[in-house]
Amino acid sequence: MAQPTFSTHVGMVDILPDEVGKWQKLEQIIREEAKKFNFEEIRTPILEQTELIARGVGQLTDIVSKEMFAFERGDDHYVLRPECTAPVARAFVEHHLDQRGGTQNLYYIGPMFRAEKPQKGRQRQFHQFGAEIIGAADPAADVDIIALMMSIYDRVGIANTTLKINSVGDPESRKAYKKALKDYFRPNLSKMSEISQERFEKNPLRILDSKEEEDQPFIEDAPLITDYLTEETAEHYGRVKELLDNLEISYEEDPYMVRGLDYYTRTAFEVISPDLGAQDALGGGGRYDLLIEEIGGQSTPAVGFAAGMERLMIACEELNIELVDEEMLDVYIVTLGEKARKWAVKHLPKLRKSGLSASMDYIGRSIKSQMKDADRENARHTIIVGDHELSEGKFTLRNMKASEEDAYTFDEILRRLTE
Ligand code: HAM
Repeated sequence: MAQPTFSTHVGMVDILPDEVGKWQKLEQIIREEAKKFNFEEIRTPILEQTELIARGVGQLTDIVSKEMFAFERGDDHYVLRPECTAPVARAFVEHHLDQRGGTQNLYYIGPMFRAEKPQKGRQRQFHQFGAEIIGAADPAADVDIIALMMSIYDRVGIANTTLKINSVGDPESRKAYKKALKDYFRPNLSKMSEISQERFEKNPLRILDSKEEEDQPFIEDAPLITDYLTEETAEHYGRVKELLDNLEISYEEDPYMVRGLDYYTRTAFEVISPDLGAQDALGGGGRYDLLIEEIGGQSTPAVGFAAGMERLMIACEELNIELVDEEMLDVYIVTLGEKARKWAVKHLPKLRKSGLSASMDYIGRSIKSQMKDADRENARHTIIVGDHELSEGKFTLRNMKASEEDAYTFDEILRRLTE
């Protein structure tokens, strides 16, 4: 076979027709669960202003400093969105969504872009579903967000997940904690990895995220953020845990969990799956009470999550969960000869107008291969048309599953299929 001339960019993946069914099924589950939780969909552009992402996600994060697909056109700086929280916050401010009253419970499904090194579960174009509650400071909102995320995994059938939670504090708690961390790491800094030495000055919390072996012994005994929380923040965290307990959502506290985005305050969480290998985070999120003000809005508390759809698909494969698309084709018209094809071209629209999905062969294949095609398309019925049927005015209607057939006029067929 000839080598194809073009291929996708590294880390960007086609979703081919045979796989689309499971994506549609997953999207359907997400939409149904979001509806139960009273979330409305929001769709923002794929391209955002680079400055929004830099300010929102944080200049020093890997996402902004290393992984942005960004370009300029005239005076405008564009970036392919690496995540959707900052864009949703922008839309909230730009369109004064607060004026709709109450909290804004929004969800999204779509592609995100990060120029990371691709590996299993890590792509450069990947898909997230996510949800945000904007305008609520109450711990009940944190827990509702977590409950929505977990209910989607539940519906899909992914049960063996671990929910990890932490509080990353507010600026006041974090200032005290950063100082404690620096005092703790300073004496051993020269023995630690280069990356951690760099993070020491810029953002010592990120040292806790280090995967470097030489850092692990020091990280193990590092001070805990939970010992530095202000009274209010500690109380918020306590309430979140209490509400999770009430809902019987089990969790593990991970006081060293720092997320890779800078906007978090108070609650942070991640859902880990043992079925994913190295990239084991199915999803994550947290509270971001300062982001909206940071990007020019009024001070507005908010909390949300996002989850990787490719990672969810990998977990399904490992667990032998089939996300089946039950879509079937209602009718396939099998034709023999030119006259029959003309008949089919005329009658297909009538079937479709009656609400049936219908297809036919366009390339004059044999009856056998048309029947095979009908099977592949998962057709419920075939209508078989040849010269004999045309002269009789009666056509063979075959029920493909029951392997039963009989002859009817077209009007009778229409009635049988639509009643
Ligand atoms: P995040 O932790 O950066 O959070 O991403 C959420 C999820 O997206 C990850 O747990 C992972 O499943 C998936 N993901 C991230 N990068 C990749 C990649 N390169 N390839 C495949 N999957 C990936 C956020 O994006 C925040 N916006 C979450 C949030 C919403 N926080 C508050 N609201």
